[in-house]
Amino acid sequence: MRAVIAQGAGGPDVLSVAEVPDLRPGPGEVLVRVAATAVNRADLLQRMGFYPPPPGASEVIGLECSGTVAELGEGVQGWSVGDEVCALLSGGGYAEQVVVPAGQLMRVPHGIDLVTAAALPEVACTVWSNVFMVAALKPGENLLVHGGAGGIGTFAIQLAHAYGARVLTTAGTPDKLGLCAELGADVVINYREEDFGAVVRERTDGHGADVILDNMGAKYLGRNVAALATEGRLVIIGMQGGTKGELDIATLLGKRGAVIATSLRGRPASEKATICAAVAEHVWPLVDDTRIRPVVHGTLPLEAVAEAHRLMEAGEHTGKIVLTL
Ligand SMILES: NC(=O)c1ccc[n+]([C@@H]2O[C@H](COP(=O)([O-])OP(=O)(O)OC[C@H]3O[C@@H](n4cnc5c(N)ncnc54)[C@H](OP(=O)(O)O)[C@@H]3O)[C@@H](O)[C@H]2O)c1
Repeated sequence: MRAVIAQGAGGPDVLSVAEVPDLRPGPGEVLVRVAATAVNRADLLQRMGFYPPPPGASEVIGLECSGTVAELGEGVQGWSVGDEVCALLSGGGYAEQVVVPAGQLMRVPHGIDLVTAAALPEVACTVWSNVFMVAALKPGENLLVHGGAGGIGTFAIQLAHAYGARVLTTAGTPDKLGLCAELGADVVINYREEDFGAVVRERTDGHGADVILDNMGAKYLGRNVAALATEGRLVIIGMQGGTKGELDIATLLGKRGAVIATSLRGRPASEKATICAAVAEHVWPLVDDTRIRPVVHGTLPLEAVAEAHRLMEAGEHTGKIVLTL
């Protein structure tokens, strides 16, 4: 089969497509013939040598895919050869074939074509698990989403809006802020020009954000804690602004707040299966009825993988970048 291989660690040009051995599913696993995969920031880190795959995961990059079930491993029930699926992966998505635990397969939502479905698993699972399962966002609460025009952000805005939360979001250009508003954000904040903490305070009448979904890490830690409401929950999922920050315990304690950090990829397969089942139950119906739409910046062939990585690194995209097989 064809798969993306990396000649050492480094820039996008270390990536190329090569022939590698075919795969077979083990017990409880399914072999998927991949139609498309999508680029994640973690892929860039893995390519640079900073984010090795967890034990047992494929060395091939790629955390999600869509495709067709090609073979069932021993004991797999509920899926048939030929089913169209999308899947959350621990790795291996940038390839013609991938082997995935059956619990990490999800049906393709109605009205979504097979290629576009590759843009959904990582954002849906990340947003549902963090904003709803971990931070327990409730209708009427204020959610602050940083990076609202990115892959995660575009999905978080739509999902929280659909669940009746009030969404505040940051983005870096007027066009991106416009997209966020179109997707359902109630308050849009240009992080290059405005102090997001001041805007959150003002636009929530001093209440603050009940939940913050943060991709920046250290750079925003202090400002995020200051922007939290009483009993607010800050969920950190990215480190785009560094890893070491200073936490004002007195402020956090005074608010009875929580700072939580999670990684989807590092979770055991059983937890990933629980998240995928919850997404199929609670999120896919909103995609089925078009209340949530995947936002795809562009679709490139797998052979253009280096270009796709450069595109994400440039940061001018909105939503997801998809690679087709
Ligand atoms: N922990 C997990 O399990 C998990 C899972 C998936 C993703 N993630 C993380 O989630 C983050 C978002 O992923 P993604 O796929 O959505 O990537 P993406 O599409 O590249 O989005 C990155 C976002 O970062 C925003 N950004 C850059 N500088 C910013 C700043 N100073 N303030 C606020 N926003 C800023 C960008 O906003 P502009 O484009 O408007 O400049 C962009 O929206 C990444 O850090 C990724 O690693 C974590």
